[in-house]
Amino acid sequence: MPETPSPTLESILSRIRPELARVDRWLDRQFEPDHPALAPLLAHAARFRGKRIRAAQVLLVGSACGGLTEAHIAVAGIIEMIHAATLVHDDLLDEAEQRRGLACVHLEWGSHTAVLLGDWIYARAFQRSTELDDPTCSRVLARATGRVCRGEIHQNLTRGDFELTEEDYLAQIDGKTAALYQAGGFLAAHYAGAGGDLAAAAGRHGLLAGRAFQIIDDVLDLEGDEERTGKSLGTDWARGKMTLPLIRLRDRLTGPERRRLGQAFGSGADRSVLFRGEFADPLREEIEATKSEAMRLLDEAAGALAPLPAHPAREALLELTRFLGTRRR
Ligand code: IPE
Ligand code: IPE
Ligand code: MG
Ligand code: MG
Repeated sequence: MPETPSPTLESILSRIRPELARVDRWLDRQFEPDHPALAPLLAHAARFRGKRIRAAQVLLVGSACGGLTEAHIAVAGIIEMIHAATLVHDDLLDEAEQRRGLACVHLEWGSHTAVLLGDWIYARAFQRSTELDDPTCSRVLARATGRVCRGEIHQNLTRGDFELTEEDYLAQIDGKTAALYQAGGFLAAHYAGAGGDLAAAAGRHGLLAGRAFQIIDDVLDLEGDEERTGKSLGTDWARGKMTLPLIRLRDRLTGPERRRLGQAFGSGADRSVLFRGEFADPLREEIEATKSEAMRLLDEAAGALAPLPAHPAREALLELTRFLGTRRR
């Protein structure tokens, strides 16, 4: 990617403001309760809005690959809903406290409600998907959601495993995070009438960008600012999720140092212990190396967009890709 100053997310999103507003209104409608018992939960879900990077991806790929249709608004909304459902479940598994600046569902209403609300959001998203004339959205998202679940299950089965391999880590993040970005790219091109090659290219961009997105998320878990991200951080380390910077740190330590890191991993210890004493310098180096790796992946993701026609939306998509490497939230 060319070395230009990193654009802000706001400036990128400002180019698709009317379309994003349509997605927001579409989402508002999904959370209108059909039973009074659900009202407080759905009011929470309706307020529970994130950065909408996945919606932006769908809108930008669709615009660049032939133009937006009604289906793009629904596809963007459906993907944001599936993503939101995974977050409600993920926060329960990670014992997180806040998300999107709000208290997590399981803290407010308990773990049973968090499981059920996540399921409700999934179910509503799939209902909307089946209402589209073209079943590709349902077909692709059913498979992608299966990969998301597999990634989360795999990760939870290896929770606390200090010896997790890099290969297993990459398989987990491709499932839990990159699969949805891959599906978003593919579907956005497909619903714009693009041929298979273009849809595959947009999917490949999504896969690589999604992988880098999660790697940066894992860096933010170590050194990010909770206020800025609006979510609990340090939970990967505290609750025994091995991530790339931690794998790299582990692999450069030997003997008693490695044992001490292993003992603290997953013990609930605050992430600040990592930045004091013996681990501080090597960890900072591995964090920098991890960020460079994410940047390389994002370069590759940008390269995957080469077959897309020259279009302002393609430029904005390249900017969004670059933003993913420098994001602080
Ligand atoms: C957070 O995703 C979950 C991960 C896959 C790391 P986002 O950072 O896109 O979350 P929101 O949608 O902006 O809240
Ligand atoms: C992403 O992993 C979870 C999902 C894809 C559901 P994380 O556990 O790192 O996400 P955050 O940090 O809680 O947002
Ligand atoms: Mg989490
Ligand atoms: Mg995280």
